[in-house]
Amino acid sequence: MIRVVINGKACTAEKGESLLSVARRKGIDIPAFCYEETLAPYGACRMCLVEVVKGAQEGITTACTLAAAEGLEVLTQTSEIVSLRRALIELYLAQAPRSEAIRALAQRYGIQKTRFARKVRPDDPLQNRCILCGLCVRICHDVMGAGAINYIGRGHFTEINTPFYEESAVCMGCGACARVCPTQAIAFEDIVQTRTMKSWSGTRVPLHACSKCGRHFAPAPFVNYARQKLAPDLQQTPLRLCPDCRSREIARKAVLLSTGAAVAD
Ligand code: SF4
Ligand code: FES
Repeated sequence: MIRVVINGKACTAEKGESLLSVARRKGIDIPAFCYEETLAPYGACRMCLVEVVKGAQEGITTACTLAAAEGLEVLTQTSEIVSLRRALIELYLAQAPRSEAIRALAQRYGIQKTRFARKVRPDDPLQNRCILCGLCVRICHDVMGAGAINYIGRGHFTEINTPFYEESAVCMGCGACARVCPTQAIAFEDIVQTRTMKSWSGTRVPLHACSKCGRHFAPAPFVNYARQKLAPDLQQTPLRLCPDCRSREIARKAVLLSTGAAVAD
């Protein structure tokens, strides 16, 4: 373990751990949109700016890409940092005017409106909430290995969607993109046997049925993908039941075990 100092407060950290991760562990608030623990730091949104006052690279940098090192000292709330953050928030208010996460942050920083032209599209599949942080693209490609979505267009017209705005043949409907999106821009819905990724060109994915109650509960391509990742003897058991039936099954087995009875799958 090593020692870093944030806002004058000594904190322990693992060598190489990101400064943002250390700050979060210590309850020190640094706003951040494009940081996700399962992905390598990317430094795209610039919200996590901090000032290094003692360390190898003194000056303003992003906390998510700053590795903790012995003796590192940073400040997170200087007037310059706050002023830069306020400008960024205004930009994001223009880019994603319907995002509640951005509006909430703006409110915390006392920002009522943006000086920049608002980018509102009535038919935006990302509900005018996308800040182009890239987390959805990266989790889909780097973690899920699907690569169903990507950046499209340039400059002011950049957006995220499937290639040629066509239904994706490789999307598993796992929803990892929606889980990591910091602005809740990604929409999907489950109706009976089908999941529709509304934000991704209406890509449709069949839902897997529970082998006990028959309810469709999880995207079938994702269930198949997860099965392949499990050890052969586990490939059937955990994924065949919906969460409700699985809980009942676990409870049933627990009761049988407590009575000393034999338990069958
Ligand atoms: S949809 Fe969400 S996760 Fe994807 S780029 Fe936009 S803000 Fe980031
Ligand atoms: S969280 Fe650090 S740049 Fe986005």
